[in-house]
Amino acid sequence: MSLTPELEKAFNAQITMEYGAAYSYLGMSAWLETQGLPGMASWMRMQSDEETTHGLRLFQFVLDRGGNVELGQIDAPSISLETPLDAFRASLAQEKEVTASINGLYSLVIESKDFSSIPLLDWFVAEQVEEESTVQQIIDDLERGGDGHTVLLIDRELGQRGGTVEA
Ligand SMILES: [Fe+2]
Ligand SMILES: [Fe+2]
Repeated sequence: MSLTPELEKAFNAQITMEYGAAYSYLGMSAWLETQGLPGMASWMRMQSDEETTHGLRLFQFVLDRGGNVELGQIDAPSISLETPLDAFRASLAQEKEVTASINGLYSLVIESKDFSSIPLLDWFVAEQVEEESTVQQIIDDLERGGDGHTVLLIDRELGQRGGTVEA
């Protein structure tokens, strides 16, 4: 079964959103680097890379289903940051928007009885739980400490995020 035009549009919008998230994380990475926090900057950069892999998963899926990929416009990230905590709060807000969008896509898939899309969307649903939880933990840690020393400790810790980005 090929994608309905409505689903094709929704999947395309999700591709754009994932790349928008990647762009936004890239902006936050640059800002954190200028604040002298290379560990956090590197974490955001990896997060950005990961978002592009999410976009590509959806991109390939649309093509595999015989659909047309239409890439949407990505706005410049408009995030004004004053503290590292601001960056992680903005990150959590963004992840929550993505989660809402994935849930909307899932609802549409169910309504359309497009069962072939469910395994992919199940993966995204689980991924969003993990992403929100990870960012929430960083926010909690930053809020708990609240001083420059804590920021440095967390910067060093986040700099340890290693390995390759997994889709
Ligand atoms: Fe994502
Ligand atoms: Fe994400």
